[in-house]
Amino acid sequence: MEKQEIRTFGRRHGKKLSTRQQTLIDTVLPALKPTTGDILEIGFGAGEHVRDLARNNPDKIIIGAEPFMNGVASLLSAITDEKSNRILDEYTGIRIWADDVRDFLRETDSKFEQIWVLHPDPWPKARHEKRRLLSAEFLNLLSKYLSENGEIIIGTDHWEYFDWIREQIKSTSLIATIPDMEIIQTRYQHKNKAGTAAPKYLILRNA
Ligand SMILES: C[S@@+](CC[C@H](N)C(=O)[O-])C[C@H]1O[C@@H](n2cnc3c(N)ncnc32)[C@H](O)[C@@H]1O
Repeated sequence: MEKQEIRTFGRRHGKKLSTRQQTLIDTVLPALKPTTGDILEIGFGAGEHVRDLARNNPDKIIIGAEPFMNGVASLLSAITDEKSNRILDEYTGIRIWADDVRDFLRETDSKFEQIWVLHPDPWPKARHEKRRLLSAEFLNLLSKYLSENGEIIIGTDHWEYFDWIREQIKSTSLIATIPDMEIIQTRYQHKNKAGTAAPKYLILRNA
């Protein structure tokens, strides 16, 4: 029997969606289902950084994965014209996987230049640690989806989780560097629930 995967995210639905958001999910989202792409962002939240990636990489296909439907709806609202619901020109490279990224990885043969994971859920209680997404097992899986010289870029303001991820990396074949990066503004970065001074970043590459 196949191993049951542990759920790494919280809720899939929050407050009721607006009529426009529901329309976008019903009519626009199906056309954005990804197959292959150049850059992947896992757990995009409300999608601020997915939009930055699309604007900064106009020739690339950017795939965002997020199971929280209110976040998916926020991204859809931000990338479409309010009157026509058409995708705005600067965002035509965006594709959305509105579910667990692990299901997407099972069906794609993409090799990504970049895989972004910004503020992954830290699951701070010891009994929830097994829900942490960035385990050695998952990082090993991600390493198989990197193109030559491809990078996994991780950011978190939860410094205990940061140290935990560094321990996990030791059980992978990935090489980690700590970059000097500008702080990336996302919704969770602004919330800074961990109350730390700044997020810390890691870049991982295949050896
Ligand atoms: C703390 S939020 C951060 C959101 C966003 N990156 C930001 O910085 O504002 C973590 C997100 O990761 C998503 N997530 C957790 N496990 C995931 C998985 N297996 N596949 C895709 N997304 C996942 C959650 O639904 C949640 O929205």
